[in-house]
Amino acid sequence: KVHRIACIPGDGIGVDITEAAIRVLSTLSNTLSGFEFDFTTFDWSSKHYLERGWYMPPDGLEQLKKFDAIYFGAVGWPNVPDHISLWGLILPIRKSLNQYVNVRPTRVLQGTTSPLSSCATNPTDLDWMIIRENSEGEYSGQGGTSHEDSPNAIATEVSIFTRVGIERIMRFAFETARSRPRKKLTMVTKSNAQRHGMVLWDKVFYEVAKEYEDVETDKMLVDAMTVRMVLQPKSLDTIVATNLHADILSDLAAALSGSIGIAPSSNLDPTRKNPSMFEPIHGSAPDIAGEGIANPVGAFWSAAEMVRWVGEQKAADGLMKAVENVTARGVKTKDLGGNEDTKGVTNAVCAEIETL
Ligand code: NAI
Ligand code: MG
Repeated sequence: KVHRIACIPGDGIGVDITEAAIRVLSTLSNTLSGFEFDFTTFDWSSKHYLERGWYMPPDGLEQLKKFDAIYFGAVGWPNVPDHISLWGLILPIRKSLNQYVNVRPTRVLQGTTSPLSSCATNPTDLDWMIIRENSEGEYSGQGGTSHEDSPNAIATEVSIFTRVGIERIMRFAFETARSRPRKKLTMVTKSNAQRHGMVLWDKVFYEVAKEYEDVETDKMLVDAMTVRMVLQPKSLDTIVATNLHADILSDLAAALSGSIGIAPSSNLDPTRKNPSMFEPIHGSAPDIAGEGIANPVGAFWSAAEMVRWVGEQKAADGLMKAVENVTARGVKTKDLGGNEDTKGVTNAVCAEIETL
């Protein structure tokens, strides 16, 4: 079976890690039989935006719809304001392709250490699945600015929460929690201070919870949640939060698991009418771009999630096993305390795949 993959490397280390992921995926399909990947690369980036005036051509979304999945590196570069780059590429893809779920697993990989070693002594002490609402809420893009350049400037940033939007993310979160051994879901909110959208968020959560009596639930305010993640990592399993809250909490989660460089994410359209998109959670890292030292593990883990989504479970498990065998041996980049570069880790993972 041939899986058609659209690759958008984007900017900075997005380019390095996408190249590494394509190498690893090609090695995987050459080693295991039964499937192949057909990659098409799109050079949509900040560099080309400055030459062309657009990130994605007018028919860009139509082009992407023809693929089985999208693999994304990172977008954003210091020469373009970040709200232009994000709204030029990644946010329209997530929204227009109905990728309303963003799944962000976090765990401590073999051979790596959490900065929380006092609270999380076993790898299983920090094993979370963060479910991020990916289509509305604080990133709805609604609002405006008046008197922009005057001392009286005023800007609004409107969060939009719909019952339909909340209900579908809650259902996905409950299904995820139910599929994991602990069957435990923590809902994150800020309904003490945000008295409209977040109150609806809470209400719909408790309604949907009635259909999942086998799932244990609790509710956290987002500020207190940061403390609990640091001090009681073991007490958490599946977590559901809004677009903004989960964005922030998942960066914290990644750091707590060892490095932002290992964390994957899946932007899913659970209806499967549109392709889903897979990307590490980190950005283009201008501070290390071009040095060849970016950690490719988040890119590989994201690739594994993509392989699973297109239906190749065994290959996905094999890829993750290869990655973890490599980290377990201490073959790691600097951010994880090792001394390998991107290429060194990639070579080691490819060699490991060939033994599958
Ligand atoms: P960042 O994630 O690019 O970097 C934060 C820090 O983590 C930096 O010190 C960087 O060197 C380090 N880091 C990130 N990934 C790493 C890896 N794989 N290996 C080793 N170290 C790694 O976040 P930052 O600096 O806030 O954003 C840089 C640009 O990326 C901005 O333009 C931002 O808008 C964009 N961005 C894009 C995202 C996307 O495309 N989905 C997500 C986050 C940021
Ligand atoms: Mg983020």
